[in-house]
Amino acid sequence: MAQEARLPYSSADQGWLSYTNNESLAGMKELTQIAVYGNSDVIDSALAELTHGIREMTGTLPAIVSDPDRQASNLIRLALLEEIGVPEEWMDAARIKDLGEEGYAIRRHPENGGGSLYVMANTDRGLLYGTFHLLRILRTGQELDRLDVTDRPRNPLRMMNHWDNMDGSIERGYAGRSIFFQDNRFVEDDARIRDYARLMASIGINGIAINNVNVHRTETQLITRQFLPDVANVAGIFRRYGIRLFLSVNYASPMELGGLDTADPLDSRVGDWWKEKAKEIYEYIPDFGGFVVKADSEHRPGPFTYDRTHADGSNMLAEALEPFGGLVIWRCFVYNCLQNWRDRSTDRARAAYDHFKPLDGQFKPNVILQIKNGPMDFQVREAVSPLLGAMPGTNQMLEFQITQEYTGQQKHLCYLVPQWKEILDFDTFAQGQGTEVKKVVSGGIYPYRACGIAAVINVGDDHNWTGHTLAQANLYGYGRLAWNPDLTEEDITGEWIRLTFGGDSLVSAEIEPMLADSWHVYESYTSPLGVGWMVNPGHHYGPNVDGYEYSVWGTYHFADCHGIGVNRTVKDGTGFVSQYFPENAQRYESLESCPDELLLFFHHVPYSHVLHSGKTVIQHIYDTHFDGVEGVEQLIGRWSKLEGHIDEWRYRNVWERLHIQLDHAKEWRDVINTYFYRKSGIPDAAGRTIY
Ligand code: GCU
Repeated sequence: MAQEARLPYSSADQGWLSYTNNESLAGMKELTQIAVYGNSDVIDSALAELTHGIREMTGTLPAIVSDPDRQASNLIRLALLEEIGVPEEWMDAARIKDLGEEGYAIRRHPENGGGSLYVMANTDRGLLYGTFHLLRILRTGQELDRLDVTDRPRNPLRMMNHWDNMDGSIERGYAGRSIFFQDNRFVEDDARIRDYARLMASIGINGIAINNVNVHRTETQLITRQFLPDVANVAGIFRRYGIRLFLSVNYASPMELGGLDTADPLDSRVGDWWKEKAKEIYEYIPDFGGFVVKADSEHRPGPFTYDRTHADGSNMLAEALEPFGGLVIWRCFVYNCLQNWRDRSTDRARAAYDHFKPLDGQFKPNVILQIKNGPMDFQVREAVSPLLGAMPGTNQMLEFQITQEYTGQQKHLCYLVPQWKEILDFDTFAQGQGTEVKKVVSGGIYPYRACGIAAVINVGDDHNWTGHTLAQANLYGYGRLAWNPDLTEEDITGEWIRLTFGGDSLVSAEIEPMLADSWHVYESYTSPLGVGWMVNPGHHYGPNVDGYEYSVWGTYHFADCHGIGVNRTVKDGTGFVSQYFPENAQRYESLESCPDELLLFFHHVPYSHVLHSGKTVIQHIYDTHFDGVEGVEQLIGRWSKLEGHIDEWRYRNVWERLHIQLDHAKEWRDVINTYFYRKSGIPDAAGRTIY
């Protein structure tokens, strides 16, 4: 019986699903009984979550009652709309239709419904999401009288991408080892995976790719009978929480697994091999989501080897998955990673657009192009990818990075919701004003067949999942934004804090500004004005201004004794700017209108160049780097006030990391300031210490 499931499954930190006793709820009669209308595994999960949450908050396990005629009052009705006759004035046909496949309605009306709380949806997944939302409402102490919430997700696909390897390591992982794999096998105890599925479903995630986009030898075998039973086990855990499992696949699998001498997408043996493979996968996992593919990127195999296009490559896979409803999620992170730094005409930022834009309209309806938010690589600040919105005839989805590869590796506090909001709200002008990225990727502009948002996740097997406890806010915030990109930063932050730490107003008053400031603080002591990089090569942590300057990666700042920045203008630069729709192209092309924070991404300027802020570039560099360290000191000051207001483990966890951050921010400050002082010879106007 679902209501007997003992949640949680593991002893890990429950994050935003940790419920504590809430006295104001204890007396509520409605919370003592639940009637269920509908029957499925997903509904069982919803019921288990509801009973668990209520028991934790009220101290009383609600009884499951049968109430087919809706005679009883004072209960929660968890109901599929087709199973329960709802009063016309509550849910007319149009409103029901509007809930779609994943939406829900939550209602409580004292005069109408006998003092009961209704959670209603067209599907079991809708009920699960509605249940988690009701729990949020209860946990955050919202007014329950005349409750009337209807909601549905904006993005059809709300995905997590794991970069987990089967040896248990995680590429760009900063929170321990994989929760799925260890020693080239699946983990035996799947309790963490079960709790993980709960956390993901509670924020609306509906697709998860469990392995790294760089598919190495062992992981190539995930689509063989050796591992498919294990993959199916995880898929089964996910399924109960409305999540479809995806796998990253090796484009050269027909050669590595099938013994063919080619992976040419136009060779019929290759297509046939994938068709057979798809059949086999769906035998094990009937609702398998599909493939995530990194091809012709950073030494991964792909169609270029055979002089074929990415449309040829992805369509061949799409044909194999099509009969089963599977998707091919094809990444656009394709660029020359063996560039000659002496070559000033090649610009890595141009690559995705140059490769993919000419192929618009050639992809099958079950192919989606997954595009990183920026044209470079998840820097703390970079321009928005001009490819987003530029392909009316091709499904697109956006890729964010929650794992903090370039943003402090979960040692530094860097709340990314403000960054993501800016990107989602960025107006591409693809169809004139009001064509924001969020509308493009949710399918609101072009008639996409499949689309949404994916993100590289930041979890591992650390007790708190994310290493830095406050990095849980990024995980939570991503899910909420993927569900509804119009939620405000303040709403998301406030909600996360109350769910995670309870209702102590001091805790909210201190953590809210900590999170709100942290991205700007991090940006201010790292690479300046959108130029990016300046990190140690390989692991990407800590300052190294020239670390990538004379490398093959196409990631340069071109600083000399006169100035700094990458000239990407049409007039006399790499021409990257021309990839934007005219309104943005004009804004970035001109020094007068280019926003300060992206100045060095688009222009090479002298250190004496005066910003819109009124400061010179060099003085801006000095000032922000001193300010950045002070910003970290303020973060520490705020956190220190919470001692005794937060449990010791989480308090220490954050306290320790903030002190590491302070040390490393000083290192960044001094390395960057000293580098530019030595290059430019211009002293700091405020006469502070520079070495
Ligand atoms: C970055 C990251 C790699 C990753 C790649 C990708 O370059 O450093 O580890 O494989 O992005 O997104 O494919």
